[in-house]
Amino acid sequence: MRKITIAIDGYSSTGKSTVAKQLADYLGYVYVDSGAMYRAVTLFAMQNDIISKNHFNTKKLIESLDSINLKFKKEAVWNKAHIFLNEKDVEHEIRSLKVSEFVSPIASIREVRVKLVAQQQQMGLEKGVVMDGRDIGTVVFPKAELKIFMNASAKERAQRRYKELLERGEKIDYNDVLKNIQERDHIDTTRKDSPLLKAEDAIKIDNSEMNLEDQFHTVLQLAKDRIAGRI
Ligand code: CDP
Repeated sequence: MRKITIAIDGYSSTGKSTVAKQLADYLGYVYVDSGAMYRAVTLFAMQNDIISKNHFNTKKLIESLDSINLKFKKEAVWNKAHIFLNEKDVEHEIRSLKVSEFVSPIASIREVRVKLVAQQQQMGLEKGVVMDGRDIGTVVFPKAELKIFMNASAKERAQRRYKELLERGEKIDYNDVLKNIQERDHIDTTRKDSPLLKAEDAIKIDNSEMNLEDQFHTVLQLAKDRIAGRI
């Protein structure tokens, strides 16, 4: 059966990674969480005195890019690949609200995007990949056979993310999560380089009122049609 490329873009906490992962598992494709890469670069910046509440040293970050090594590795006991930053597993650390607070400014830097996009394109060379992010259908894989653009109401998204963070054991306030989602939506959609926008040929899915199963079956049917060459 022919392999295709599936690009899933959308706003923060729309469940992109859940559906992307389900789809990849079902089809035997590789799943790539491109957001994890931006988050890992952000963690590097936080650990190396490049970004904090009071300062952001863009020049130092750009100069440090060659010393940032990112790799996805998978072990049988994990349900998805973990991201490694300079050989250290940072999969858990990058999901904190602290990292979320700095990630969008970091992801607005052109040099950061150039580096990560090149690596993402490399991972998709052989097709059979499901990648989620903000610019996958527009910049990384503009020729992807299937493009999905996901959205849900900001309140619904904040509720989902709040629950995830509580389950991680973070002590957080719902309003901080909502604020972070709204701020990231704003930065991600208005940045100069590769802003979050729906590719013309992407299919829009609003999952505010959809359960995970319905969402998966909707997207799976679209994928099956593309693989069979029906659409
Ligand atoms: O899971 P969540 O929706 O919170 O976001 P993510 O996929 O982990 O991405 C974190 C941030 O990385 C986003 O808010 C964007 O600023 C940035 N990002 C990006 O610019 N381009 C991508 N392809 C993926 C993420």
